[in-house]
Amino acid sequence: MIDIELCGNTINIEEYSEFNELLTIVQQGEADYSENLGWLSPSEWANDDILDYCLEAAAKASSIADTFVLIGIGGSVNSTRALLEALEKKSGMDIIYAGNTLSAYEYEKIISKLEGHDFVIDCIAKNFETLEPGLAFRVFRDILVKRYGRNGAKGRIFCTCTPSSRFESLALDEGYAVLPFPADIGGRYTALSPVHLFPMAACGADIRALSAGARYMAEKLCSMPYNNNPAFIYAALRNKFYADGYKVELLSSFEPRLRWFYKWWEQLFAESEGKDGKGLFPIAAEFSEELHSLGQFIQDGSPIMFETMLDVIDPGSSVRIPSDWIDDGFDYLSGKTIEDVNRAAQEATLIAHSNHCPCIQIHLGRIDERTIGGLFYFFEFSCYLSGRMLGINPFNQPGVEAYKKEMFYKLGK
Ligand code: PA5
Repeated sequence: MIDIELCGNTINIEEYSEFNELLTIVQQGEADYSENLGWLSPSEWANDDILDYCLEAAAKASSIADTFVLIGIGGSVNSTRALLEALEKKSGMDIIYAGNTLSAYEYEKIISKLEGHDFVIDCIAKNFETLEPGLAFRVFRDILVKRYGRNGAKGRIFCTCTPSSRFESLALDEGYAVLPFPADIGGRYTALSPVHLFPMAACGADIRALSAGARYMAEKLCSMPYNNNPAFIYAALRNKFYADGYKVELLSSFEPRLRWFYKWWEQLFAESEGKDGKGLFPIAAEFSEELHSLGQFIQDGSPIMFETMLDVIDPGSSVRIPSDWIDDGFDYLSGKTIEDVNRAAQEATLIAHSNHCPCIQIHLGRIDERTIGGLFYFFEFSCYLSGRMLGINPFNQPGVEAYKKEMFYKLGK
């Protein structure tokens, strides 16, 4: 279970009891948002039948290819990437992310990486009008067709689409395999659904453990009262700091393999809460590296941010620091391990930063599928609740349409 701590302070949760009723409403799921709440109970879209189905599709993909080309953008790709990059799995298919860029340089790089490899593509799109995945789907299916012929390519193309969509009919017409994109979940909330379970499984992640972690977290967060519910405490603190004038939330940790988890988290909160002229701007920092760059601003710059630090209790590795005869000025490290030093740096950073800005710590066990599954759910639930405390709709994203309108005009759509 996740544990929340406000560094250097005790949390007087009674101050937030006014939101108690909102927690009960969110735990049950509001009728007004029923079209977006398919994720609230992970047993709906990450139950045993769906896990079996995704594992079967993954086995099929890996029986014919060594490389999985994931075509998607934003919510269609970030959860898979967050998990796989955090786990650094050595088994399963290699994954290549396409459909998240319009850079010709990146396209050329991906195309050349695919030479000499057998690959499948999975195009993930809820609304099949998004330019990036639509364009990548064209480019990579063309490569498959040229390589294997129209018929041969069929078995290598997976389409993750909503039922009765234009994308689904195109896929069925061509004989491509179809996976369900839940109609009642928006992209950034799809971590525990076939959208991500299929690519995660194909690339070696234990999706049963992921789902178990999320289900356990859901059971807790949907039943715990406000005064010891960690999602409530986190959401209430975020809103308190926002009201106190802090407009930026910085997510940090001392484990660089959470780099892509940060991206997932940034998207979740920016797209869900940044609207109606409101919301915290979510950014992230990789420590200890960025203590030597962003650290200056965090410690001493404009007081615009508060910090949320992910504390990974068990790093899962141990490296002893060697001693030798050279007087290099680092003898104070002799006899210690790298993890001792990382822990000391983390504790010191929290003491220093909390002298300048509010700091929250979220304690986690270790980085594995079960923990990340729980963490995906924890932040999704917190985001829904926090967005409702802020008074916005956490499930739409009207702001992203403005640039698209201009771009489509320029492209003659
Ligand atoms: O979370 C969201 O809703 C977005 O990030 C979408 O996932 C992203 O824009 C991709 O949309 P689509 O799947 O419709 O191509």
